[in-house]
Amino acid sequence: MSPTPPTPAQIRAAAARLVAQVADGGRSLDELLARDPDEGSARGLKRSLVYGTVRWHFRLLEILRRLADRPPEQLPPPLRALLEVGLFQLMSGETAPHAAVAETVSAARELGHPRAAGFVNAVLRRFQRESDALLRALDTDLAVRTAHPRWLVDALLLERPEAAVAILEANNAHPPMWLRVNRRRSSVPQAAAELEAGGWRVERHALAPDALRIEPAADVRTLPGFAEGRLSVQDPAAQLAVEVLDPQPGERILDACAAPGGKTCHVLERVPGHCAVTALDVADDRLARVRENLARLGLEARVLAGDAGAPGSWWDGQPFDRILLDVPCSATGVIRRHPDIKLLRRARDIPALAARQAQLLRTAWGLLRPGGTLVYTSCSVLRAENETVVAEFLAGTPGAVDVTPDRTRDWPPRSGARGPGYLLLPGEAGMDGFYYACLVKPP
Ligand SMILES: C[S@@+](CC[C@H](N)C(=O)[O-])C[C@H]1O[C@@H](n2cnc3c(N)ncnc32)[C@H](O)[C@@H]1O
Repeated sequence: MSPTPPTPAQIRAAAARLVAQVADGGRSLDELLARDPDEGSARGLKRSLVYGTVRWHFRLLEILRRLADRPPEQLPPPLRALLEVGLFQLMSGETAPHAAVAETVSAARELGHPRAAGFVNAVLRRFQRESDALLRALDTDLAVRTAHPRWLVDALLLERPEAAVAILEANNAHPPMWLRVNRRRSSVPQAAAELEAGGWRVERHALAPDALRIEPAADVRTLPGFAEGRLSVQDPAAQLAVEVLDPQPGERILDACAAPGGKTCHVLERVPGHCAVTALDVADDRLARVRENLARLGLEARVLAGDAGAPGSWWDGQPFDRILLDVPCSATGVIRRHPDIKLLRRARDIPALAARQAQLLRTAWGLLRPGGTLVYTSCSVLRAENETVVAEFLAGTPGAVDVTPDRTRDWPPRSGARGPGYLLLPGEAGMDGFYYACLVKPP
């Protein structure tokens, strides 16, 4: 017997609990949703409430501050999150307003706050009456209008004043679904035809030759060819990392921060013939995903658990021809896909990440053969994690040359990037935000 589906109020209560676990518990949406029960038809609504509320959290919180008779910080977190869910529904217009209010009020009882039902009702109804004037006043503040933490808005205005507003707005867009075609098992025209026959609208990308955008987005399990290893899900910005690396047959290649293996697999799919790829990651548990992806796509790599910053324990002393260093970073370039980054990342995280990235870059350089190529990439848009790391490295490393401009010469003109490497802004050419620096060691 299938379980009774949750009521609309229970869906809202469950969404509020999840939002509170992100906003107050510091948990990531990926981690929470991976463990969340699949409640059939309720899943889509719950996810869209959770993602929407998290995406607009900083704006919803300020609205709440103006509407409630006590500061939102003094409310129990799930109740505060429920009010945010209610406000999000009224703003998104995806639910009829009377249903949004009624179900949110009932959800307060589901959350164990029956006495707050009147308060929830009063806040949401006041918003309905006053929203125009309220939003006009609040939207004069860029951080509130675009629902970002102030530290990130300030950093972007300081570092990229000409692009800051566009970045912040692109971060709130719904991300398109992009696939990567496995050249060893299919071709882009063949995969496109298969998807079109299945009813999807399909589009290619001008810069990423293996990429296909599909519309509407779908559960991967329903895509023709996914289980058979002809397709993977990957944004073209991530695919371009391997275009910049330009791996060649017969080479020894290190993917130094490999999990879950998207780029490792792309390297192997892209190279005709054999190349010896080592997929390294410090997080042993994440390597299972690398192995799964390799197996599904019919590829082979040496998968190793180890710290790229301490190669003594795993390196055999044989230098690599090419190294991909896809560093752990703030992920501020992929906020449109992971809106919880806005809530989870703090300004104080950035210096520690930058120090780690610089150490990884210096160490990886020591594993590269003379004349070899190292590609440093991140999905951050912050200069401290990108241009600054690479510029300081170049200044302290005699002979290292930044050849990124050669590799990216057909890409969009660099939008205000300063320093070495190339920064792709979020939303630019339909892609996630990403940074690439291609460095060559003197022969
Ligand atoms: C941006 S993710 C890599 C994504 C991956 N390249 C892909 O395309 O699927 C960064 C990875 O770096 C790993 N990492 C962090 N510090 C590391 C270290 N010191 N040595 C090796 N891997 C590390 C993390 O566990 C994480 O899996």
